[in-house]
Amino acid sequence: MTQATPSQRTYPWTTTMGDRELTFRLMEPSDRDAILKFARALPTEDLMFLRSDITQEKTVDSWIGYIKSGRTLTLMSEAEGKIAGYASIHTNDALWTRHIGELRVLVSVDYRGIGLGKRLTNEAFAIAKDMGLKKITAQMTTSQRGARQVFEHLGFRPEALLADHAMTKDGRTHDLLLMSYDVAGFHDAAASA
Ligand SMILES: CC(C)(COP(=O)(O)OP(=O)(O)OC[C@H]1O[C@@H](n2cnc3c(N)ncnc32)[C@H](O)[C@@H]1OP(=O)(O)O)[C@@H](O)C(=O)NCCC(=O)NCCS
Repeated sequence: MTQATPSQRTYPWTTTMGDRELTFRLMEPSDRDAILKFARALPTEDLMFLRSDITQEKTVDSWIGYIKSGRTLTLMSEAEGKIAGYASIHTNDALWTRHIGELRVLVSVDYRGIGLGKRLTNEAFAIAKDMGLKKITAQMTTSQRGARQVFEHLGFRPEALLADHAMTKDGRTHDLLLMSYDVAGFHDAAASA
């Protein structure tokens, strides 16, 4: 079945990355169990730093609820019948922040380093732009050094550092880094307006 985003970008489609064949499509409520399986197979280090605990059924159920209501849009990539990664854009219709989307990207360990995170992010950017969003944010702790480097490669810039703002499952606090990406030069346009 053909899927379309609010701006009529269409999925699914399949491409080759490295020597892997990957299919890109939008997440649907029927993906609940596959997402739980994907999340539960992540290494402890990744699980420690998840923004929300997607190994829990109730968390995935509320994610699906946001997809149904249109507040979240998730693009996923599959290979050999399993989820290889996803990128989600989370929006908030509060008046002041309605132009902002938060990006969450997660790629399974087996598919890292072949450009999948970048491809998912670029697709998510295109969708965000079509949705009229002006600024994309990503949040990570300062301990996630690899993630920060990846996001810098993707064009994100550090914007704020919040001390002890994140608490991992083990009860330890971490400084939270807020990075942002200016969709289509919005910041420059806003500054000169
Ligand atoms: C962050 C993450 C999504 C990257 O996915 P990926 O598929 O491995 O990344 P890609 O292969 O697309 O690489 C993207 C860019 O980052 C670079 N990169 C990849 N891994 C890197 C690493 N560990 N250190 C430094 N740079 C790295 C790549 O060279 C590439 O750079 P380029 O654009 O100049 O070619 C993945 O590592 C992940 O899921 N991490 C756990 C979750 C997380 O931390 N998410 C971020 C918070 S939302």
